[in-house]
Amino acid sequence: MRRHSQSRRLPVTGARNPWPDFPYLLDMSLFQRIWKPNKGPSLKEPEAAYDLWANSYDDPGLNLVLDMDADIVEQLLGGMDLKGKRWADVGCGTGRHWSRIYQEAPVELTGYDVSEGMLAKLVDKFPQANVRKIAEDGLAPLQKDSLDLLISTLALAHVAHIEPVFRLWAKALAPGGLLVLTDFHPLALDKGAQRTFSHKGQPIAVKSYVHPLEGIRALLAEMGLTELRLLERVVDQSVRSYYSNQSALPVYEKYLGVPMVYGLLYRK
Ligand SMILES: C[S@@+](CC[C@H](N)C(=O)[O-])C[C@H]1O[C@@H](n2cnc3c(N)ncnc32)[C@H](O)[C@@H]1O
Repeated sequence: MRRHSQSRRLPVTGARNPWPDFPYLLDMSLFQRIWKPNKGPSLKEPEAAYDLWANSYDDPGLNLVLDMDADIVEQLLGGMDLKGKRWADVGCGTGRHWSRIYQEAPVELTGYDVSEGMLAKLVDKFPQANVRKIAEDGLAPLQKDSLDLLISTLALAHVAHIEPVFRLWAKALAPGGLLVLTDFHPLALDKGAQRTFSHKGQPIAVKSYVHPLEGIRALLAEMGLTELRLLERVVDQSVRSYYSNQSALPVYEKYLGVPMVYGLLYRK
């Protein structure tokens, strides 16, 4: 079952970005022209990059990818009875979705991430939080049948080898358990989009891998999980203002029609 995004207007949130940094939406050539004439962002491994990004991650200003992700997560979780479940959030970062998860009164909730800086921010916001730092293989210490819900948002493309991660997730979910997975869309990554931020005035890009969506879906099916929903959010006219507000209409033209974020819901 494949569902394409409806072109729905997303809320334009956050403060206007005063300078042309396009978190998550960077096109290298444009960046080079309008930011540093001869120098693109430096590429960093995820752990080091997110340790630097942690201080500003929760203050993204206008950010299309985060808004698309928030919309997808709400659609995937909305309308289900999720009260009193055991949750894990892999690649939890600063816990952007945790206020939403706490609304479901989880009996357990543990966040896993490679970045101590991101986890420290999460604990600042939610002092009762249970978090664990994990290695870059993305393999969290999850026990068999220990979870009712596993959520991972905007993190998977940072993992080089996803098959062992999916195997672990499938094992950790109890029968009937749900997987909620979102990420930067591989078609956007393949076209040159990057996750970028600025640290001390220097543009930094985070290393990502292109895992084609069909491959992700085939692997999850192979692990015995059943796909319930696929959502894709495409760059269309309804999101033009994200680009025009940052004087980035050439980037808009480049990505017009390209899916930027996907979301998947699976049941074991
Ligand atoms: C874009 S942030 C997303 C954070 C949060 N899930 C959200 O939606 O805001 C990506 C997160 O993935 C984490 N990450 C990167 N590589 C990872 C890996 N191999 N395993 C687990 N987490 C990883 C980063 O440290 C970062 O916190």
